[in-house]
Amino acid sequence: MDPKPITLYEWIIERFTVAGRAEFVEQLATTFEQLVEPQARVLDLCCGAGPFSFLFERLGAEVTGLDNAPFMIDLARQEAGRRGSSIEFVLADVLEHDLRSQHYDLVTFIGNTVSDFPLEAAVRLVEKVETALRPGGRFVIHYIDGAYAFIEGSYPKEEDEQLEPVKITRRFKTYRAEDSAIVETYRNESTHEEYDYTSYLYTAPMVRRIVGARLALEQSIRLSERSFVDVFRNPAAPLRPVRQAARGTRPRDQANG
Ligand SMILES: C[S@@+](CC[C@H](N)C(=O)[O-])C[C@H]1O[C@@H](n2cnc3c(N)ncnc32)[C@H](O)[C@@H]1O
Repeated sequence: MDPKPITLYEWIIERFTVAGRAEFVEQLATTFEQLVEPQARVLDLCCGAGPFSFLFERLGAEVTGLDNAPFMIDLARQEAGRRGSSIEFVLADVLEHDLRSQHYDLVTFIGNTVSDFPLEAAVRLVEKVETALRPGGRFVIHYIDGAYAFIEGSYPKEEDEQLEPVKITRRFKTYRAEDSAIVETYRNESTHEEYDYTSYLYTAPMVRRIVGARLALEQSIRLSERSFVDVFRNPAAPLRPVRQAARGTRPRDQANG
């Protein structure tokens, strides 16, 4: 695939999001067939090279894909050119970018991307998603329970990730308990380039608590022991406005708090 990844970081995201993606897209295609109406406005957050954006377009949606890695957006735009796709691929940081208010029928966040976000950033992201969704719109998040890797003894150890054309190893470096962050060092054994990749540990109850503070859980699909697709809905009315509404009409309630 052109352009070839050049940095170790690009190699990592290419390996985990581009290679073998077609199979994952097909695994979720039936689920999205139920969720994507023709002409639906879909925002694919952290879209990578856009595999799911292209699925949504295939299902008849008007799609915007957003990612902050130039390498990924280049791949997505090239693929869009090859397909004659009209998807808009935006190069931006989701936490900085101004998302259109109450515009989208569906916002997606796929590929365990939440593990790239520290807790506070994940909370802010969900607030932005809520603002971007029209009332009744849905948010679909796919994530992998981060605790399983520890339970299964995947850490700490060193593994060969790739042998040819250059050897690339992956080594557990540390676990930072204060922010639930796992740090792994990837190393290109030919160039000696190293990259510390940080991923944040989330479990299903954590994700549901964070997203559920803003949106209502509607459905959860368990893809495997550790892999979940949760579907949330933006309630037509805000989740907790009850007290304020009562105050105007019943003065006694004000005193009672
Ligand atoms: C694991 S990949 C998933 C890509 C795609 N959703 C998929 O399933 O193939 C995570 C993507 O999130 C992007 N990303 C991470 N933090 C981001 C941020 N703050 N703003 C925008 N994109 C971000 C990365 O560049 C990467 O392409």
